[in-house]
Amino acid sequence: MEDFKVKDTSLAPQGHLQIEWASKHMPVLNQIKERFTKQKPLKDITIGACLHVTKETAVLVEAFLAGGAKVSLCGSNPLSTKDDVAAALTEKGVHVFAWRGQTTDEYYWCTQRAIDYKPEITLDDGADFTSTIHSRRTEALSNIKGGTEETTTGVLRLRAMEKAGALKFAIIAVNDAYSKYLFDNRYGTGQSTLDGIMRATNILLAGKNFVVCGYGWCGRGIAMRAQGMGANVIVTETNPLRALEAVMNGFRAMPISEAAALGDIFVTATGDISVVRKEHMQNMKDGAILANSGHFNVEIDIQDLEELATRKRTIRPNLDEYTLKDGRRLYLLGEGRLVNLAAAEGHPSEVMDMSFADQALCVEYLAKNPKMAPRVHPVPKEIDESVATLKLSAMKIRIDELTDEQKKYLATWEMGTI
Ligand SMILES: NC(=O)c1ccc[n+]([C@@H]2O[C@H](COP(=O)([O-])OP(=O)(O)OC[C@H]3O[C@@H](n4cnc5c(N)ncnc54)[C@H](O)[C@@H]3O)[C@@H](O)[C@H]2O)c1
Repeated sequence: MEDFKVKDTSLAPQGHLQIEWASKHMPVLNQIKERFTKQKPLKDITIGACLHVTKETAVLVEAFLAGGAKVSLCGSNPLSTKDDVAAALTEKGVHVFAWRGQTTDEYYWCTQRAIDYKPEITLDDGADFTSTIHSRRTEALSNIKGGTEETTTGVLRLRAMEKAGALKFAIIAVNDAYSKYLFDNRYGTGQSTLDGIMRATNILLAGKNFVVCGYGWCGRGIAMRAQGMGANVIVTETNPLRALEAVMNGFRAMPISEAAALGDIFVTATGDISVVRKEHMQNMKDGAILANSGHFNVEIDIQDLEELATRKRTIRPNLDEYTLKDGRRLYLLGEGRLVNLAAAEGHPSEVMDMSFADQALCVEYLAKNPKMAPRVHPVPKEIDESVATLKLSAMKIRIDELTDEQKKYLATWEMGTI
């Protein structure tokens, strides 16, 4: 069996520097790694991970190796792998199967290779790994103690599997921890999505009409940061509460059919399909820019764009121009895949410090509790809170503690108006 497959192993020296840089900004994960080094809680456990192969993921993998695990790794998106990081990981003994710019067949070939190492604990981002094990690699199921899931879309898919009675091992929904989605999905996606748009286009955001489709945790972050750069933010939603929240946060809310004619930039972050489609593209301004930050490349209907276009040109990396029959040009960033990973570097390390601290602690939890029921489980509260406590401490921020009088007061009902 091949030990790994990456684009170019000679990129490893640059990858090591990138990993070192990320690690410097991930104090919580480093504390966990130090403990893992001493305690070896993952001794001889095989971990199979399907994650964006970035410098932050490499720091997580280092923590697993320090804990005594063996690791196989594939990418969770055909465009998100950083080839230098992948190369560096091969020198750390990780079985990496990932490179940037994969075809769908290559992507799933890599998934299958990571499964070949017979993982006992899995990590997934979007549920492709878990669904492949359940559909095409069922012989791998017998080894698996449990797994984790990193993102909203993955948790939705796994809950659907559980509902259909198809889920065969326990999954901890890391995405749903407060210490994950309140920070990663909001501040991480907020900043890195704008980073991706700016690296791909270098346009000025101030004064632009910036349409955010979906006002969930990611959408809130994107809207907030776009507003901070001086853009006029318009939100489209299907959920009345979220739309109302957007309005009360100072944004305009309207259907995508109306926003289509107004927007200079469109960003989808819904986890849904065909949110921006033909009838909307037909009404867009010349020069409109389309980007997606939701997990899969289905939010902007790329087939519709291809059908409407008479010409397609790549203007610069991650920026494709589609000319429509009437001469208008629409621009698609990063092939409609996660723009923050395709055109930038994904979330900043400080945010991934928390998400991956959750991952590391949940993997340790699964190693200690190998017989959890085959359901989607929440992150244990003590893990969620410990990540926030460790992060505050790493930031040298102290907070108050409840006094005994306050604890008693908060737990009683007798005392009211005085
Ligand atoms: N880019 C990244 O790095 C990154 C990070 C975290 C999550 N994600 C992905 O981003 C997506 C959104 O995640 P989230 O945590 O914000 O989810 P969420 O559930 O909090 O929010 C999604 C929102 O989209 C709305 N929505 C659904 N269909 C819609 C439609 N047709 N039009 C307008 N709004 C619609 C929903 O009502 C909801 O408010 C998921 O696919 C998730 O996996 C990406």
